[in-house]
Amino acid sequence: MSNSKPPRVIPVHDQRQSAHPMPPANTHGGPSLTTLPMDRLGRPLRDLRISVTDRCNFRCSYCMPKEVFDKDYQYLPQSALLSFEEIVQVAREFVGLGVQKIRLTGGEPLLRKNLELLIAQLAVLRTPQGQPLDITLTTNGALLARKAKALRDAGLQRVTVSLDGLDDGVFRQMNDVDFPVSEVLKGIEAAQAAGLGPIKVNMVVKRGTNDHEILAMARHFRGTGIVLRFIEYMDVGATNGWRMDEVLPSAQVVERLQTEFALVPLEAFAPGETAQRWAYADAQGKPDAHAGEIGVISSVTQAFCGDCNRARLSTEGQLYLCLFASRGYDLRSLLRGGASANDLAGSIRAIWAQRDDRYSMLRASLPASDVAAPGRRVEMSYIGG
Ligand code: GTP
Ligand code: 5AD
Ligand code: SF4
Ligand code: SF4
Repeated sequence: MSNSKPPRVIPVHDQRQSAHPMPPANTHGGPSLTTLPMDRLGRPLRDLRISVTDRCNFRCSYCMPKEVFDKDYQYLPQSALLSFEEIVQVAREFVGLGVQKIRLTGGEPLLRKNLELLIAQLAVLRTPQGQPLDITLTTNGALLARKAKALRDAGLQRVTVSLDGLDDGVFRQMNDVDFPVSEVLKGIEAAQAAGLGPIKVNMVVKRGTNDHEILAMARHFRGTGIVLRFIEYMDVGATNGWRMDEVLPSAQVVERLQTEFALVPLEAFAPGETAQRWAYADAQGKPDAHAGEIGVISSVTQAFCGDCNRARLSTEGQLYLCLFASRGYDLRSLLRGGASANDLAGSIRAIWAQRDDRYSMLRASLPASDVAAPGRRVEMSYIGG
């Protein structure tokens, strides 16, 4: 952030200690296909995002603005974090209840010491049908060049790297720790060389900040096998000073891409997916497999809550049912209180059965004051993207 900007004073509400009361565990029905839990809107549980640290070595203004996450900010103490054993204990029960994909997030997950040991333990889990999980990780790429091979060896299949532009000045300003683009690109290369794939690159688009980088990013990643995805800047958390006029609707992202590239829409891989996929077209207007595809993630202008099958486990073991929730459910207390595997599964089942979250779909009908001044919403660096 440049020195010429006036300092922003941002109240932070610490949601990390308050939790929803735990519903009575529903221990009826084991992990069979017919008894997999559905939430109140008929959505199954498929995707578990696990935050392994609330720390990050970047200070992206849309996620961990420097004014809030400064040297006095109190991160969680080590004792509050779920241990790898605890994470695996919880993950195993989620998998029994229908989870097929696990994403490790943060903060920056590669800051968690010995992360590959956790990956190795998750990689051996199997779904009730005996299938391996889709295990992936979201990283800012800073430590990827160093860690890609060990991650792959431990059983990680793919990675998603955040990169908000190729212009070094723009990127250094957005990460706000003066981190160069070249190091992230080296991380992506190392991930490719290690066989982590398909690699995705996520670019959060902020109108007026990095939207002029859209075409350069598309040119760079077209034909590399890497899937570039453009994300609408969201009003997540309570500290990023979000404004609607800084959101560039995905429809406009696609329009800008179409000034240079022919695109054809692709079907979603699976229900509940975040991204709408577009292929680069060949001369016949058909998807050009060599050129590859891009995605747009439109949680502001085209909410995708209808099929949302994502649960989030915070760094200290709280289960969040929505990215925009203000409270979670304290699974760590259950774990540390000696709950059996059956009780743990029963509690998760009961929590999921109560779920009716659909914030992005409701956003438009909320009073403007709730959207602009979210007050008690939890931070994304704590529950993971
Ligand atoms: P893939 O399995 O690789 O397709 O991953 P994904 O798109 O499911 O997950 P990823 O973490 O890469 O999501 C990309 C971005 O979409 C995130 O960084 C968020 O900005 C946004 N996002 C992900 N999940 C949700 C969600 O449940 N709700 C909303 N509103 N936004 C989400
Ligand atoms: N809006 C959209 N995406 C965000 N992320 C973090 N904050 C926001 C926000 N305000 C996502 C980005 C980043 C990942 C770690 O979290 O995709 O790459
Ligand atoms: Fe760190 Fe990712 Fe948040 Fe940026 S978006 S501050 S890299 S966790
Ligand atoms: Fe799911 Fe909440 Fe995101 Fe909607 S806003 S897609 S319910 S996490």
